[in-house]
Amino acid sequence: MNNHQIYKDRRKRFMRELRGSAAIIPAAKLVTHHSDCEYPFRQNSDFWYLTGFDEPDAVALFLPYRPEGEQYILFVLPKESSAEVWNGFRWGIIGAVENFDVDIAHPIDELSDKLAHYLNGTEHIFFRIGKHPQVETLLLKVWADLLDRSSRSGSLPIALYSPCSVLHKLRLRKDPWEIMRMREAGLISSRAHELARNETRPGMNEREIQAVIEKYFLEKGARGPAYNSIVAGGKNACILHYTANHSILHNGELLLIDAGCSLNDYYNADITRTFPINGKFTGEQKALYEIVFEAQKSAIDCVLPGENTEKVHLKAVTVLVEGLIDIGLLKGRAESLIEQGLYHHFYMHRTGHWLGLDVHDVGAYRLGEYPIPLEDGMVLTVEPGLYISDFLPVPEGQPQIEERWKGIGIRIEDDVLVTNNQPEVLTSDALKSIHDMER
Ligand code: GLY
Ligand code: MN
Ligand code: MN
Repeated sequence: MNNHQIYKDRRKRFMRELRGSAAIIPAAKLVTHHSDCEYPFRQNSDFWYLTGFDEPDAVALFLPYRPEGEQYILFVLPKESSAEVWNGFRWGIIGAVENFDVDIAHPIDELSDKLAHYLNGTEHIFFRIGKHPQVETLLLKVWADLLDRSSRSGSLPIALYSPCSVLHKLRLRKDPWEIMRMREAGLISSRAHELARNETRPGMNEREIQAVIEKYFLEKGARGPAYNSIVAGGKNACILHYTANHSILHNGELLLIDAGCSLNDYYNADITRTFPINGKFTGEQKALYEIVFEAQKSAIDCVLPGENTEKVHLKAVTVLVEGLIDIGLLKGRAESLIEQGLYHHFYMHRTGHWLGLDVHDVGAYRLGEYPIPLEDGMVLTVEPGLYISDFLPVPEGQPQIEERWKGIGIRIEDDVLVTNNQPEVLTSDALKSIHDMER
């Protein structure tokens, strides 16, 4: 199946769900870094999922109630050599029609004139409020006018819905193409972790290791890191979102690396590995690593159809808490410690999240009271950790932390595909056994 067909199929499924309603999905805009410099462009994932069009300032309309040939409309930046000489190529109106299977394309500055026309006849409007101020202002005005007219004509008032419920349900289950791309992101990212571990030596700076990883991403054709890489030596690993990456790597400490690449079509990997900087675990490091490793293996074993992310989390937490009791960092019965959350000073995050075009990908985790059951084609991370520091108070009645444990932060994170058989670890080329972490 070629790329065109993939996006076409998605639009077909999306429009089937829209029934008689219109959806308006804007592209991302460029974001200022400072002064007149911008961050690299990052397309809005919903827009990308449906269009495969990688330019800013576009707006897609999906109009299943209109005749064939008028159902998929793209408003784009027009071709303009004076702008392209500064900022690069644009597809323009003709390019959009010829290369992206668009029914009709218009210059973006005609959106305000044409939107009312295209929304004529819609039952409802699907638009994500609060994210796209310019399109929102315009749409609300057009919507208000439509409401005025529909009350005069006696038909039902139009409702405004978020497209998330429809679109994010589609994005939650990955199609075979997406799975292939996520395997690729997983493979590149795994190999980058292997390279980084092999190059790490005491005395280096965290940033040098960040450079090793990100250089590999770029060499392999990825866009770059999927999120700010975390390269955290020693106690920096206890800061969950540490991204300063500018400390010396000390002999005898661990290095935690949380990094994954984003491919050209925005599919991501998200991997964490933790290993001794000098190649040998201390006794305390090894004891904690074994616990996290066991917790991760047991949690991955739960990634099966019919299970859910809460069960995966509970499995990880149970193994972590039992391990912490065994080594004297917690005391009591595992079940009651878990019930009361008395382990949160060592493990304060969830065990995973959906992964896809967004690193923390879209899709519900619960439907009301009920956790969403895992299904074939869903991809989630499994990332238990232990962080032994003074950041959070030790709960009353729990053991004070001996100095020998402090400053050890460990996380192991893989990306896991739910299949109708065994879970498929997309990042298995990044080794993780105790033996493999030592040299
Ligand atoms: N790297 C972000 C996360 O692990 O969720
Ligand atoms: Mn993650
Ligand atoms: Mn991560």
